[in-house]
Amino acid sequence: MPLTEYERYLRVPELLSLQKPEESRTHDDELLFQSVHQVEEIWMKAADDEITRLVPAMDKDELEAARAGLHRIYLIEKLMGDQMRLLETMAPVAYFAIRKGLGHGSGLESPGFNRLLRSSKKVIDAFERACARHRVTPEDLVRDPTLNRPLWAIAEVMIDVDEAFQSFRYRHLVLVKRIIGAGTPSLKGNPIDLLENNAKKMFFPTLWRAREALFNDFVPGELKT
Ligand code: HEM
Repeated sequence: MPLTEYERYLRVPELLSLQKPEESRTHDDELLFQSVHQVEEIWMKAADDEITRLVPAMDKDELEAARAGLHRIYLIEKLMGDQMRLLETMAPVAYFAIRKGLGHGSGLESPGFNRLLRSSKKVIDAFERACARHRVTPEDLVRDPTLNRPLWAIAEVMIDVDEAFQSFRYRHLVLVKRIIGAGTPSLKGNPIDLLENNAKKMFFPTLWRAREALFNDFVPGELKT
């Protein structure tokens, strides 16, 4: 049977040959395990691709295009966090079997994840350049969003992106605890300590600090009933 145009366009045969065939699997759940990881890598590639376009857009003051790109990344990250939950259906003993076949592989080596960590720096740099061109600081915007609504909209969607990424890391952390327990040493030391520390990291710390600046000046006032 010749391939349909649908199959040829999406390269379905190649795509479906990228997961281990049934006879090579170490456990029935390995297809799910491999698929979730592969899909997550594709989503991270798509998120990074948005960054390659939204950074030049921000530099050209095409702020709505940049905002739309960031919003798409936010939606991708939310999806990535939700997908993580599929692996919560796996019993620890299933992962125990699969892990044996992972060699020394670790999520720390995920190229998509590491690329996104690097690319997020380009986003904050572009945002800071845009703020400088418009003569406002992130702190000014937090104090008064009406100073520059389009830049405020970008700052807010960057917070969305950061929040969704932290949630993804948190979901992953809880998944890992659920599967391997909280105290199990892994190939790289105590993984839970490492993941807990990393889950606190932010892409865009400047934007979170700008909020602190506002509330540092807070003084309680008279009760108004
Ligand atoms: C059964 C499911 C999973 C288990 C048991 C698991 C386990 C772990 C562990 C123990 C670590 C800490 C580093 C190490 O000791 O190797 C880690 C890190 C990581 N894993 Fe997973 N993982 C799972 C699913 C996933 C999935 C679906 C992804 C998809 C992207 C992923 C991506 C990562 C990333 C990016 C890191 C580094 C995290 C960071 O730096 O914050 N993991 N994983």
